[in-house]
Amino acid sequence: MKSLNTILEQTREVFLHAQDAETLEKARVAHLGRKSELTELLRSLKDMTPEEKREIGPQIQHVKHELEVLFEHQKQALKEKAYDWEKERVDVTLPGKRQNIGHLHPITQVIREIEDIFISLGFDVADGPEIDTEFYTFDALNFPKNHPARDMQDAYWLNEKNEDGDPILPRTHTSSAQVRYMEQNIPPFRIVIPGKIFRHEPTDASHEHTFHQFEALVVGKDVHVGNFKYIAEEFFSTYFDKEINIRLRPSFFPFTEPSFEFDISCTVCLGKGCSVCKKTGWIEVGGAGMVNQNVFVSAGYERNTYQGFAWGFGIERLAMMKYKIDDIRLFHSGDLRFIRQF
Ligand code: DAH
Repeated sequence: MKSLNTILEQTREVFLHAQDAETLEKARVAHLGRKSELTELLRSLKDMTPEEKREIGPQIQHVKHELEVLFEHQKQALKEKAYDWEKERVDVTLPGKRQNIGHLHPITQVIREIEDIFISLGFDVADGPEIDTEFYTFDALNFPKNHPARDMQDAYWLNEKNEDGDPILPRTHTSSAQVRYMEQNIPPFRIVIPGKIFRHEPTDASHEHTFHQFEALVVGKDVHVGNFKYIAEEFFSTYFDKEINIRLRPSFFPFTEPSFEFDISCTVCLGKGCSVCKKTGWIEVGGAGMVNQNVFVSAGYERNTYQGFAWGFGIERLAMMKYKIDDIRLFHSGDLRFIRQF
């Protein structure tokens, strides 16, 4: 029989010369497999004397191990050689693929800005459900049943009722969150409630069926109209980053007494009169007033214990003035050419 050394040398040669995995595997079967000379040698150990076994046994095992290691090594090398590096190559100098990163909708940006300003004035931000009950939207706010005031804001009534059997609707104003908040909180407090509202009305460049308001509600023992004027002026001057004049006109809302229509000086012509303010120098931003005592009673407060002011201002209009957008319908158009400008 060949010497162990010859087997080692020959097998090594064969393994090292194999050019592909298949040839290498065949060589393994031939030289390390069941019918190989090496296995034959191992088998012949049983016919040897104990001394011979002790001497030769480890030598055979050693050769076998060495060849196995070489085989594994060679197998790995062939695998790497067969790998198509060219195909996998990455040219790091090529320009990257542009990723489309989304960003906040202009209305969301304006809402966040409004929140920041009011937080800096010591307000909390609250919210209420977009689908609310008739109670919180109208009754709790002192809208008499069948009073035409309910038609001021044509609502999309839903066919479903809530679990208590109350009629529900997409809220027509953020004022619906007022009594919800007051039921859970004791004055004094000052909050703003930004949110989406819905009205059944035809759309044009300045009207939408879905838009946003932010409600303010400030309640305490001696809150008065002067506080209201100061806070409002402070807010608008910060938001537009210039001095803004405000104007209150008498109006009517069931949930305020007295009630005002709230105007700010036109930010485009600075009050001189232009097409945006229809030559009046003023722009209406919403309604306001001193909270009607009946609303406090709806919330469970005792009558004539607290005073407060409230307002509901349109958010789209503020965004339109600041960014010079001339059609409110653009906000919900889904037109990326518009959205991407902000
Ligand atoms: N909710 C009214 C509207 O949508 C606006 C409004 C008026 C809100 C007076 C108020 C308020 O909080 O005090 O037309």
